[in-house]
Amino acid sequence: MILVAQVSDTHFDLGARNAERAARVLAHLSELRLPPAAIVHTGDITDAGKPEQYAQAARALRTELPLFVAAGNHDDRAALRADLLGTHPSDAPLNQAHRVGELTVVLLDSSVPGEPAGRLSVATYDWLRATLADGDGPVLLALHHPPVRVHSPIVDSIALADPAPLAAIVAGSGRIAGVLTGHAHSPISTLFAGKPLVVGPSTASVLRGAWELDAPDHVMDYAPDPGYALHLIDRAEDGGYRLVTHFRTVPAGGRISVQPD
Ligand SMILES: [Fe+2]
Repeated sequence: MILVAQVSDTHFDLGARNAERAARVLAHLSELRLPPAAIVHTGDITDAGKPEQYAQAARALRTELPLFVAAGNHDDRAALRADLLGTHPSDAPLNQAHRVGELTVVLLDSSVPGEPAGRLSVATYDWLRATLADGDGPVLLALHHPPVRVHSPIVDSIALADPAPLAAIVAGSGRIAGVLTGHAHSPISTLFAGKPLVVGPSTASVLRGAWELDAPDHVMDYAPDPGYALHLIDRAEDGGYRLVTHFRTVPAGGRISVQPD
């Protein structure tokens, strides 16, 4: 069994609020009795892709735990590389595979520079097929944009365009335990190509659904505590892999808000 935490949509903007909320979740994760083997960030690390926002993110997100990050529509590939990852500031799609024990975390760059919606390039699909074919063990696939409609008044119009090739790859690989995304600022669970699809909550805000809005333009809710997802990857009875996900929020003070005091 492997434990992986997911944070998303931290939207570092040089202000204190979003930075404190993200740092609060990271501190909480690193203090768990069984800390996760890695933390996956499913994008929108910053609010505007500025180098100084990545520097702020680097300070707030740094713990003893391995951190893997995917680019979101609010990110800038070159600045993300230079100022968060400390690598060459290329504008090429940021596709990565990280091994954690027997698990491989595969992060796809679904961002399209200058566009809010997402798309995976032909080169990214080729890289993904080769990565899945090279090796064994379970895979967690992470990208920013959900490849399905999540019934969000904001996100559905800027989701992943043309997800059919991704669906074919996911359906055809026995290694993929599940698909993780961000973008929707809401903890969401559904299926994609027969595999679990989990949208991780944002640490910054909640994007409300149409059924719960008090006014059509009140979609962004800043009141809830920052949240995260904890994914457990284990063997399933049929010899494949099972993804089990728990969601938590972290109130000020760091205690898990499961029950009132
Ligand atoms: Fe976001």
